[in-house]
Amino acid sequence: PVPYSLLIRNCGQLLTLSGGPTDRPLAGPHLSDWLILENAFVACEGPIIVALGPMAELDEAQVTAETQVLDAGGQVVLPGLVECHTHLVFAGNRAHEFQRKLQGESYLDILASGGGILSTVRATRAAPEEELLANALRHLRDFRRYGITTLEAKSGYGLDKETELRLVRVAREAGRRQPVRVVPTFLGAHVVPPEYKGRPADYLAFLAAEVLPALAGAAEFVDIFCEEGAFSVADSRRYLQQARELGFKLKIHAEQLHDLGGCAMAAELGAVSVDHCDYLSAPDAARVAASGQTVAVLLPLVPLFLRQDKYAPGRQLIAQGVPVALSTDFNPGSCPSKNLWLALSMACLKMGFTPKEAIAAVTLNAAWALRLAPEIGSIEVGKRADMLVLNVPDYQEIPYWLGENPVREVIIGGQVHA
Ligand code: NIG
Ligand code: FE
Repeated sequence: PVPYSLLIRNCGQLLTLSGGPTDRPLAGPHLSDWLILENAFVACEGPIIVALGPMAELDEAQVTAETQVLDAGGQVVLPGLVECHTHLVFAGNRAHEFQRKLQGESYLDILASGGGILSTVRATRAAPEEELLANALRHLRDFRRYGITTLEAKSGYGLDKETELRLVRVAREAGRRQPVRVVPTFLGAHVVPPEYKGRPADYLAFLAAEVLPALAGAAEFVDIFCEEGAFSVADSRRYLQQARELGFKLKIHAEQLHDLGGCAMAAELGAVSVDHCDYLSAPDAARVAASGQTVAVLLPLVPLFLRQDKYAPGRQLIAQGVPVALSTDFNPGSCPSKNLWLALSMACLKMGFTPKEAIAAVTLNAAWALRLAPEIGSIEVGKRADMLVLNVPDYQEIPYWLGENPVREVIIGGQVHA
């Protein structure tokens, strides 16, 4: 037998996330129906998981002097977290707008006055590429300390061809320079840039004709912000259809601040995910559930930070059979936080998730939202060895220690990071 390169022993609870359907994201009862092994081990050869089970079944013959042994000491071990929605690459910050917000100005009012996303666009266009890369690498290091092992990174603060391509390039380069896997998404359709003020359809036509063809092989997903003050449902539909014809997978920011119908429209185009969903209605949720493949990515730190009372109806979406994932939405405007554990707690407190459902939503279903579930998101033989050893003995403590980081060790591709 081949010796294990890494063995994690004495896992008090091994949250495998296995046991459900493998051809689609977890929905309804499956979200909390996955397997927990007590007093268990996981073994890897190189970057891949090759064995797991109760400690009593560990084959000591495969544990040799070459095996790195990590003793979990009775604590929880789970798949590495998947951050399936971030705006990783930007310059500057919006601390100056925090004051305006505290005085009662709304997100869309600040945007309409030329601030908000447009203020980050000005800073990002002016920043040298090395500075953007250094910022992204610093944020990725923080994410890794929170146990994120795969992260989606959207462009969207360039809004011209050159800068948008730069942001995708920076995301890819950041992925090469450190261990966290980075998945770039093109969000050139974030808002209408000043150069196209009042002409959203012209801007989208420009993106479809000039920028999308230059992205083949560099970004797999195309996203759009469908909202008042950004892009209409009709314009978004036309653009997403064009992106689909060019071979991109689709995502949408929709129903964040109003119920316009963007989520159902995108789901019917086969979108991989529909994100935000705070204003998603029950009839539209049924249309999202219908395909069984579109994941609703819920972002509970956004209404918290924007001082809104309306959170996505998580409990109801789960009851309707919509597959749900959770993410921070890390960005300088609506969520300057990288704490996905806090998002998980907030989903329990404000959206009616159970702890087990919330854990599935930041692991296997988040992997589905990037169409990476065949490789990551659960602890199963043949999957990539992306795992976390926590410093709590029971998964129920994960959402309970509000705002803490429960991560003790991060394992990415079979390599242990303290
Ligand atoms: O997902 N809603 C649109 N885009 C981002 C926020 C970007 C920003 O404010 O800089 C979001 O919330
Ligand atoms: Fe976002």
